[in-house]
Amino acid sequence: MSPSALAPERVQVTIAQTGDTYACTTDESLLEGMLRLGRKGIPVGCVNGGCGVCKVRVLSGQVRLLGPVSSAHVSAQERANGYTLACRVAPTEAVRLEVAGRLNKPFSLGWGKPTAPPATPAIQQLKET
Ligand code: FES
Repeated sequence: MSPSALAPERVQVTIAQTGDTYACTTDESLLEGMLRLGRKGIPVGCVNGGCGVCKVRVLSGQVRLLGPVSSAHVSAQERANGYTLACRVAPTEAVRLEVAGRLNKPFSLGWGKPTAPPATPAIQQLKET
C-alpha cells in the first residue's frame, strides 16, 4: 500500500436544509467538519454516539463508520433510509446530508442559513480604523 493511499482527502459536505457547505477530511467525522461552521443549531451532544442528537440523513455520497451506531438512536429502518450519526461516520466522497435529529428545527427555521462570508482579518482592520 502506498503512503498516498493512507493520506486523508478533503471532500465537500453540503447541508441540504441550509445550503451550507464545508470541507471534511476522510478521516474525521461529518460532525467535526460541521462544527467548524460555527453556526447556532448544529446538532452536537456527546460526540461519541451516545445521545443521538447528531442524527443526519445522507442523501448522496458515501460514508464509512468510525464507531458503532446504536440502534437505540438509529433504527434498522432508518439506516436503510440513509440515517446515521454524524459523529460516527466519515465521508469517503462528497456528501449531501440533511440534519434529522432533535435539533433539526433551528435548521428548518433558517438559523443555519448562509450569511455573508466572514471578513478576513485585513478587512476587519480596515473597518475598525
Ligand atoms: S453527538 Fe451524541 S450521538 Fe453524536
